[in-house]
Amino acid sequence: MKLSASIVLLLASTTTLVSSIDLLSWDEAYVKADKLVNEMTLDQLADITTGRGLFIGKCTGTTTATTNPDFPALCLADGPLGVRGTPFASAFPAGITIAASFDKDALRERGQDMGAEFRGKGAHVQLGPAMNIARVAKAGRNWEGFGEDPFLSGVAAAETITGIQSQGVIAAAKHYIVNEQETNRMTHSVTIDDRTLHEIYLWPFARSIEAGVGTVMCSYNKINGTYACENDRVLNQILKDELDFKGWVHSDWLATHSTTKAVNNGLDMTMPGGWVYFGGALKNAVKNSKIEITRAKDMVRRIVAAWYKMRQDEGFPSIKMNTNNGLQDPGIDVQADHAKRIRQHGAASVVLLRNKNNILPITAASGIKKIAIFGDDAGLSRQGNNTSCSVVSKCDKGTLIQGGGSGASNVPYIVSPLEGITNRAKELSIEVVSSISDGKIAKATSIAKTADVTFVFAKKYSAEMSDHSNLKADNNVDKLIQAVANTNKNTIVVIHSGNAVMMPWESHPNITGILWPGLPGQETGNSLADILFGDINPSGRLPITIAKQESDYPADVYNKFEFEYTERLLVGYKHFDAKGIDPLFEFGYGLSYTTFDYTHIKVHHANNTSTKVSVQIKNSGDRDGAEIVQAYISYPEAAYEPPKLLRGFEKVFLKKGQSNQVTFQLGKQELSIWDVPSQQWVVPKGLFRIHIGASSRDIRQRASFHINS
Ligand SMILES: *[C@@H]1O[C@H](CO)[C@@H](O)[C@H](O)[C@H]1NC(C)=O
Ligand SMILES: *[C@@H]1O[C@H](CO)[C@@H](O)[C@H](O)[C@H]1NC(C)=O
Ligand SMILES: *[C@@H]1O[C@H](CO)[C@@H](O)[C@H](O)[C@H]1NC(C)=O
Ligand SMILES: *[C@@H]1O[C@H](CO)[C@@H](O)[C@H](O)[C@H]1NC(C)=O
Ligand SMILES: *[C@@H]1O[C@H](CO)[C@@H](O)[C@H](O)[C@H]1NC(C)=O
Ligand SMILES: *[C@@H]1O[C@H](CO)[C@@H](O)[C@H](O)[C@H]1NC(C)=O
Repeated sequence: MKLSASIVLLLASTTTLVSSIDLLSWDEAYVKADKLVNEMTLDQLADITTGRGLFIGKCTGTTTATTNPDFPALCLADGPLGVRGTPFASAFPAGITIAASFDKDALRERGQDMGAEFRGKGAHVQLGPAMNIARVAKAGRNWEGFGEDPFLSGVAAAETITGIQSQGVIAAAKHYIVNEQETNRMTHSVTIDDRTLHEIYLWPFARSIEAGVGTVMCSYNKINGTYACENDRVLNQILKDELDFKGWVHSDWLATHSTTKAVNNGLDMTMPGGWVYFGGALKNAVKNSKIEITRAKDMVRRIVAAWYKMRQDEGFPSIKMNTNNGLQDPGIDVQADHAKRIRQHGAASVVLLRNKNNILPITAASGIKKIAIFGDDAGLSRQGNNTSCSVVSKCDKGTLIQGGGSGASNVPYIVSPLEGITNRAKELSIEVVSSISDGKIAKATSIAKTADVTFVFAKKYSAEMSDHSNLKADNNVDKLIQAVANTNKNTIVVIHSGNAVMMPWESHPNITGILWPGLPGQETGNSLADILFGDINPSGRLPITIAKQESDYPADVYNKFEFEYTERLLVGYKHFDAKGIDPLFEFGYGLSYTTFDYTHIKVHHANNTSTKVSVQIKNSGDRDGAEIVQAYISYPEAAYEPPKLLRGFEKVFLKKGQSNQVTFQLGKQELSIWDVPSQQWVVPKGLFRIHIGASSRDIRQRASFHINS
């Protein structure tokens, strides 16, 4: 199944795929690392574990090379959706957006293409993927991660890491752990119980380690009063012992707060470094026996082993970027033909939230003569096609394709929605008129009167270091949407955002369409046009819950220095399910231009290590398309789990009229809960229910099974 999928991919694509690198096992890598590290002096151990300082060196973070034995200066480069701070690199869809594809192949391909770009620039480490859970709907960095569900985030993290590392680039799983808001981000302490920590927040990191991730970035915040980067429980006990992580832990930028405590509690590298806590201080601590030399060697062995594992000792390119000195940046072009898959993946991630009267897709048969387009978010910013948002880390003008801060990438160009739609409309001889301004309401309504269909574009810009105070769309665009809907009976709203956005106009009878393309990257306009004109049938699904009102969410941003995650396991849709609150659009929701029937659910066998359930899916509509088949589990009551948890999903493409069987294999991992007294994952005994459907609330087939031992 996997094999044939990748053959199809090769045939369908004219890309010269960078062949995937045969990585070493950790054991093989450790044999090599031991040999090198045993020859090293204390000075060399300090050089390898210490970054050179903020804005020093060519990369976001750069270490010092050693000679005899030789080990290169490592280049750690932002960020999770593409290379930042150097030209001629691609802007890929954001994490939250590719998660909306619910497509494992797309997730892996994006990782592979990003990895190829980091490799081309000579970056040893890509500082991503981010895998924090969107616990708080208003949190400023939710767009960098994969949404509110640990299972989806875990699959997305593992596929992304496999893709990145297939290019011999080390992926960094971040930000470890419970780094869920930006307010007081360097100082706040999270109080969290052990079960919630494991089942919600640790889960994607655990999947990352299984995928062989090379490094983990510890986060700014404290857990139970102790900074993540010097926390024995989360670094030594959980990450390195319980999860058996063999790679290294590096700090988030300026997240190191001590020498002896940090090192003895599990930190292996400080970033961006400087000599305050590591470097000379580390050497002194070893000389004064506060840190054992064996521990100093263990730190370096972990770094060197990851480097060997990715085969970076075999002709890895030299560093060809200079983030900290643009004038000296060689500016090598690494984009190849990645734009093609960026467009495909953008389209695969568009979530169609409403499509009344089948207003979409627009085809020659629709009888549409004139389209009107409104809103700042439809066009390019004042800077035109040449956006410099990666330099100033602020990409909030014009159409929104990503968020801001260290999670942003270089943006080589943007095909705006206006341009993408106009080009495609031309082929159907449809006229396009526009007013690209949120403020010019009278102008928009006078144009809207003359059009058969109108599109109003809205956005919500999110960035590192700032949480939202509300979930309204930016720039009071709700007023424009309302006004256009009052004058045109086919008003379609398109929202670019990485956070949930409130939709006060949602029940307006003239709003016949709502689309959620998220943060799609540089090909945004083409990806959207592919969906609007039916060249691609939408299959994206929400990786977050969109509530009817802000107060329906289980958690908010706290402007405090210490607080508890009192909602415990009730994160995202689990809260809405448990409390009986109807969301506006639930987790996993998204429409298609065709319909799918679910029949013949069958539990083939069920025990505590292997449970197999299948269902028959038929494309019962009149267009080819893909369905995202989702499997949710309800645990035995005595397990005290939320009503249902996502434990499987498959994207299945079916031609019209075609059927296929979709099978879910649930192993120990999918059926376990974290048992605090025994400190293990255990499969509870009793009655399990499985719900298979098209979203977390659109369940089409149900079955149950007993697990007795
Ligand atoms: C934090 O404290 C709680 C309550 O004492 C405990 O259950 C939990 O395991 C602690 N977690 C960490 C990471 O220290
Ligand atoms: C983009 O804009 C910047 C500053 O406005 C300018 O220096 C640069 O030459 C422009 N690049 C291109 C490719 O037009
Ligand atoms: C922006 O650049 C892209 C890629 O070169 C191109 O396809 C697009 O037409 C340009 N848009 C404008 C408005 O120049
Ligand atoms: C819907 O649009 C039509 C114009 O096509 C307008 O006459 C009508 O008042 C609008 N409905 C509402 C509820 O605003
Ligand atoms: C679970 O079921 C599978 C498939 O029937 C079987 O191979 C396996 O031995 C069973 N394991 C246990 C522990 O019963
Ligand atoms: C599964 O059940 C068997 C007994 O049938 C038991 O020995 C084993 O420990 C159980 N495994 C798990 C993962 O719970």
